Amino acid sequence: MDSNEQTPLIATVRVRPPRQRYSHNVVRRFCTIALGSSLIALTVLFLLPVAFLPGHHNHYRPRPKSIAFEKLQAIILDTPKEEKAQEWSKYYTSGPHLAGKNYSQAVWTQERWDEWGIKSGIVAYDVYINYPLDHRLALYENKKKGKGDVDSWKVKFEASLVEDVLEEDPTTGLEDSIPTFHGYSASGNVTAPYVYVNYGTYQDFEDLINANISLAGKIAIAKYGGIFRGLKVKRAQELGMVGTILFTDPGDDGLATEENNVTTYPKGPARNPSSVQRGSAQFLSVAPGDPTTPGYPSKPGVPRQPVEGVIPSIPSIPISYVDAIPILKALNGHGPSSKDMNQHWERNQGLKYKGVDYNVGPSPDDLVLNLVNEQEYVTTPLWNVIGIINGTLPDEVIVIGNHRDAWIAGGAGDPNSGSAALNEVARSFGVALSQGWKPLRTIVLASWDGEEYGLVGSTEWVEEYLPWLSHANVAYVNLDVATVGPTFHASASPLLNRLLYEVTSLIPSPNQTVPGQTLGDVWDGKIRTMGSGSDFTAFQDYAGVPSIDFGFGPNPEDPGNTGGAVYQYHSNYDSYYWMNKYGDPGFHYHVATAKLFGLFTAKLAETPVIPLNATDYAIALEGYISNVESKLSGTAEEDEMEVRARPTPIGSKGDIEDLKLSFKKLHKAAKKLKKAAQAHDAWATELAEQAGQDIPWWKWYSKLKLYWNIRKVNTRYKFLERQFLYPKGLDGRPWFKHIIFAPGLWTGYAGAVFPGLVEAIDAKDYGVAQKWVGIIESSLFKAAGSLK
Ligand SMILES: *[C@@H]1O[C@H](CO)[C@@H](O)[C@H](O)[C@H]1NC(C)=O
Ligand SMILES: *[C@@H]1O[C@H](CO)[C@@H](O)[C@H](O)[C@H]1NC(C)=O
Ligand SMILES: *[C@@H]1O[C@H](CO)[C@@H](O)[C@H](O)[C@H]1NC(C)=O
Ligand SMILES: *[C@@H]1O[C@H](CO)[C@@H](O)[C@H](O)[C@H]1NC(C)=O
Ligand SMILES: *[C@@H]1O[C@H](CO)[C@@H](O)[C@H](O)[C@H]1NC(C)=O
Ligand SMILES: *[C@@H]1O[C@H](CO)[C@@H](O)[C@H](O)[C@H]1NC(C)=O
Ligand SMILES: *[C@@H]1O[C@H](CO)[C@@H](O)[C@H](O)[C@H]1NC(C)=O
Repeated sequence: MDSNEQTPLIATVRVRPPRQRYSHNVVRRFCTIALGSSLIALTVLFLLPVAFLPGHHNHYRPRPKSIAFEKLQAIILDTPKEEKAQEWSKYYTSGPHLAGKNYSQAVWTQERWDEWGIKSGIVAYDVYINYPLDHRLALYENKKKGKGDVDSWKVKFEASLVEDVLEEDPTTGLEDSIPTFHGYSASGNVTAPYVYVNYGTYQDFEDLINANISLAGKIAIAKYGGIFRGLKVKRAQELGMVGTILFTDPGDDGLATEENNVTTYPKGPARNPSSVQRGSAQFLSVAPGDPTTPGYPSKPGVPRQPVEGVIPSIPSIPISYVDAIPILKALNGHGPSSKDMNQHWERNQGLKYKGVDYNVGPSPDDLVLNLVNEQEYVTTPLWNVIGIINGTLPDEVIVIGNHRDAWIAGGAGDPNSGSAALNEVARSFGVALSQGWKPLRTIVLASWDGEEYGLVGSTEWVEEYLPWLSHANVAYVNLDVATVGPTFHASASPLLNRLLYEVTSLIPSPNQTVPGQTLGDVWDGKIRTMGSGSDFTAFQDYAGVPSIDFGFGPNPEDPGNTGGAVYQYHSNYDSYYWMNKYGDPGFHYHVATAKLFGLFTAKLAETPVIPLNATDYAIALEGYISNVESKLSGTAEEDEMEVRARPTPIGSKGDIEDLKLSFKKLHKAAKKLKKAAQAHDAWATELAEQAGQDIPWWKWYSKLKLYWNIRKVNTRYKFLERQFLYPKGLDGRPWFKHIIFAPGLWTGYAGAVFPGLVEAIDAKDYGVAQKWVGIIESSLFKAAGSLK
């Protein structure tokens, strides 16, 4: 396979003129028109605005011809079909498609899109990545009886490290299924006593230090959950531990557990006891993407940076709860019990009924683990599939994407429920194109590779096309796990909130217990902030492109009860069989997602005045500022896991009272931004109304003025999010440029807002916090100015 493979289509995209040339072009265009013969000028002036005004109204019949929005909407809502989504799901989940390992799935995707009328190509990057070779986990016991006896080490337990093959589920029996392992994990062979470290959060480790548990030289065994897995390995490594084992505790599965007599998969919805969560151990909150090329694309031959500090140096492996039980039980009676620690250690202990006391350890010297992890590291191509539908306005671009790669041969939920929905959107757009649709804005479709290892395919692509995206990208719409349950969830830049409320109210809910309900009716309406964890990260946090991510998941409070089945994330049981039986029987939620994804994109691409709302952003910012302020005064309500993920500072630096006073500046700046945003949105509303009215042909000048004003308003919307980028990036992690959104340093997922400021406050470094107040203040002023 040719890693240099690049379509002419993509090459064109790359050489698009920078921003300044745009205004130059406009001027030139205007001059040509003005200086032409009056007859031609009149005609051109009349046709120009007509060409770009909405297709909603027949009297604006656009040139080039397009179809009315009502018709486009009907196509988007009518085209996606359950059988088709099933077909795509079946295809993607019928063989392994680990990052860089399945070129034929990239080609297949490209061929389908082409077939449906969307010109597409494959964009390859040469990335540094690991593949599993071997692993072992065994518990050794020294049976030496008395003082003078010789050592007599015996294997007390040998972990299987494989998931059960199930007769009902053909995916689980594939010959070429992918072993259980961690992406970007370090190779190693260590034998040592071990310590149970709860969830392995920063505070869990602090609790162990405070309880005088010796950690150096030991192996950590941690529960999955709460924070990004790589950060558990990171902290263990920093404390001198020599290996990390991560297990899935059924205590985190809500009510649908074996303990509650809920039948396990495949006979029932509870977790199969042998289920293993694979996943990346990269230090995601430091930088995503290829760890050897931070900030630039992994093209063949580029210089490579050392990977220390970005990926682990101690070995780690994931295991099932079946494999964890004997290891945890062997700790019974050793070291403090969870009760001796604190209440955070006592939650969700799902293996007590199996005789596990959850003692901390360490295991005595005659009880040790041998952990072997053998990984092959290579620099190898991976393949993004990129499709383009040229719009009338080449400098206003909507990008939509989903990743294709999975940890397992299946991946029916993660990510291929999203891939099936994306294909249904592509097919719908194809139908619209065949009926004469010519979008106002350019739409780019992306099927990313390498997301699982650390958002690799999307990050490298954004790094490569940054100049063009900075100039032209209006928004990015992401779909990862589209559906593994009935509960809708979303996170977004506040600019996009309003559009999400609007579009969810237009999509019928697949749950018609109450007939006629829309998605909006069955959703709690909460929109979370953007952190990391999927392919929107490079767009939102690095390029300053307003982004959104949504999908259906289990009910987080109660995955097994109202929420249907437990989602066996990153395991062999995320299979087509599971999806069809438990995740989304009948694939109705797949279809609902495709409709939402398609219509959301179409509204972004077609509405003459871009449907972003600056006021909502300003209001959100006021809220974030108040939250940080109450955090500073100790009155904030905070998420337990976020608190547990945070380092406790020893002393404080700088003056807290000064910092408190400086919040006045932030409130003032936010107020100024809100004022500018309100004026801007009001103008946008006015223009949208005008665009919807019938302007007689002889008022060509009004039409022209309206067109230029809409372009002006849209350009300001387009660049608003970019104002929140700080070129030097966050302290200690300069890849992250956004001053409002970033993954939490020690959670790795959606984090606190104003990361620079909040981390400084957490560290009680009020001087650095002051610096960030200044940075935020000037960003808010800059944003306000950009709307004038
Ligand atoms: C690639 O994916 C296809 C379709 O899922 C599958 O049939 C094939 O075995 C996979 N190829 C490799 C090399 O794993
Ligand atoms: C899109 O437009 C560019 C230039 O504006 C052109 O080179 C390219 O071929 C077009 N692509 C499609 C799919 O029409
Ligand atoms: C791990 O190291 C031990 C002790 O050096 C050795 O006996 C064993 O063969 C090694 N295991 C593997 C899989 O290399
Ligand atoms: C840990 O050790 C220190 C110093 O030896 C001692 O003061 C403290 O009480 C110990 N803490 C616990 C929880 O055992
Ligand atoms: C599960 O079944 C066992 C045996 O029938 C019973 O003792 C136990 O109470 C049940 N547990 C629950 C939560 O229903
Ligand atoms: C379906 O909707 C009804 C009514 O809104 C609700 O009570 C029920 O929990 C929903 N079912 C699922 C599986 O979401
Ligand atoms: C933008 O949001 C504000 C505040 O939420 C609202 O009052 C206004 O009507 C919205 N404007 C548009 C154009 O959506």
